[in-house]
Amino acid sequence: MFGGKSHILRGSVSLALIILILLVIILLVSEENPLRASLFEVKRQFSSSSSSSSSVCNFAKGKWVEDRKRPLYSGFECKQWLSTMWSCRVMGRPDFSFEGYRWQPEGCNMPQFDRFTFLTRMQNKTIAFIGDSLGRQQFQSLMCMASGGEDSPDVQNVGWEYGLVKAKGALRPDGWAYRFLATNTTILYYWSASLSDLVPMNNTDPPRLTAMHLDRPPAFMRNYLHRFDVLVLNTGHHWNRGKIEGNHWVMHVNGTQVEGEYLKDIRNAKDFTIHSVVKWLDAQLPLHPRLKVFFRTISPRHFKNGDWNTGGNCNNTVPLSRGSEITGDDGSIDTTVESAVNGTRIKILDITALSELRDEAHISGSKLKPRKPKKASNVTSTPTINDCLHWCLPGIPDTWNELFIAQI
Ligand SMILES: *[C@@H]1O[C@H](CO)[C@@H](O)[C@H](O)[C@H]1NC(C)=O
Ligand SMILES: *[C@@H]1O[C@H](CO)[C@@H](O)[C@H](O)[C@H]1NC(C)=O
Ligand SMILES: *[C@@H]1O[C@H](CO)[C@@H](O)[C@H](O)[C@H]1NC(C)=O
Ligand SMILES: *[C@@H]1O[C@H](CO)[C@@H](O)[C@H](O)[C@H]1NC(C)=O
Ligand SMILES: *[C@@H]1O[C@H](CO)[C@@H](O)[C@H](O)[C@H]1NC(C)=O
Ligand SMILES: *[C@@H]1O[C@H](CO)[C@@H](O)[C@H](O)[C@H]1NC(C)=O
Ligand SMILES: *[C@@H]1O[C@H](CO)[C@@H](O)[C@H](O)[C@H]1NC(C)=O
Repeated sequence: MFGGKSHILRGSVSLALIILILLVIILLVSEENPLRASLFEVKRQFSSSSSSSSSVCNFAKGKWVEDRKRPLYSGFECKQWLSTMWSCRVMGRPDFSFEGYRWQPEGCNMPQFDRFTFLTRMQNKTIAFIGDSLGRQQFQSLMCMASGGEDSPDVQNVGWEYGLVKAKGALRPDGWAYRFLATNTTILYYWSASLSDLVPMNNTDPPRLTAMHLDRPPAFMRNYLHRFDVLVLNTGHHWNRGKIEGNHWVMHVNGTQVEGEYLKDIRNAKDFTIHSVVKWLDAQLPLHPRLKVFFRTISPRHFKNGDWNTGGNCNNTVPLSRGSEITGDDGSIDTTVESAVNGTRIKILDITALSELRDEAHISGSKLKPRKPKKASNVTSTPTINDCLHWCLPGIPDTWNELFIAQI
């Protein structure tokens, strides 16, 4: 009897509580309430994404968990889209334990990737990657994910529509574009290592210099933005003296060569460029209401003892020896991208910390298979690379794709 009474009592107390909570919510959400603005501020800070995000969830926090259904495609099969140098299966790497994990964000809804569901959602849409070779890895990963890694007559090369054709004498085109005919979904990549506009300077003598306009996005982005529904940007690893001088890039702002000390510091030049491309895109977004833009944070390198010039390596093969979880309410490790997108409609795709845990998943010392010696060539040895920058595919960039797909 006693128990029953207290149940009833408890029941009515809970009912009163629910009504009270509902009232408070109605109050908070009503337009006039001054608290509303600050409530949304807090939410925005938590999700560290744009104001349109309504869920309190941060995809960068969570943990790597074993998953027997991984990888999402075969490194042997995805020959049509995947560069041989990044396919560690083809390259003869002996251990593949790194393939068997997925990222489980804490408190975020991240459904299992299904390529048919994905392509159906992306019907009539164009997804563009613009960035450096790490962006190209993410593009190849998405092509393999969306095709299941199988050759398919349903996928058509439409590079010509975007001027992505190999120029005479060029090693490769500046990018690639493919369309899945069944759903009319286009996935493309354009190579822009610095996200700035590169314009040949008018000098006839070698070295042919190129003006690198830090305050102007690449012409490709300006020309084709109206055709994109999703844009994923990245930059970072080309911002060093060696790469900039090696490419004969001459930094320009306001149409003239950079003079001041501030921008001569390459870190500042990178910071300035990232802020300026984000500012430009944010101003373009109202004119392109369908467009969603993500800025991917820097992909971590794991060279021990320096870099590949100094023989650095990353020979760990044991998954998650650096830990498996990212917790806490710290922001991104990549404070440049984080501060650039802050207060804009550009979303951050924060993959730095979660990728940092995966040092075993780089190309590492996978050896190139002996190349067939070319006629009149003397190179028959196996060049050894120690690539602690790029990732084996399938691998970590698949997770980056799952994370942005969940946020589209
Ligand atoms: C494909 O999608 C584009 C928009 O992205 C649309 O303009 C075009 O008509 C579509 N083509 C087909 C065959 O559905
Ligand atoms: C895709 O485009 C075609 C042709 O314009 C149209 O018939 C179809 O309804 C579109 N589908 C979606 C989901 O937008
Ligand atoms: C390059 O410089 C030459 C000589 O000064 C000039 O005749 C030519 O018009 C210039 N070309 C461009 C594209 O500016
Ligand atoms: C470029 O021009 C703007 C506006 O005139 C000026 O504020 C800025 O300082 C200039 N930047 C450089 C690096 O010359
Ligand atoms: C891995 O690299 C470290 C440091 O360069 C080296 O001492 C060690 O012998 C290497 N281990 C293997 C298994 O190659
Ligand atoms: C974002 O901008 C707000 C307002 O300017 C500032 O208070 C906050 O510290 C910034 N957050 C980050 C992560 O830069
Ligand atoms: C090939 O390599 C050998 C040994 O390094 C050298 O003696 C020979 O001259 C090379 N031949 C050519 C055609 O470069």
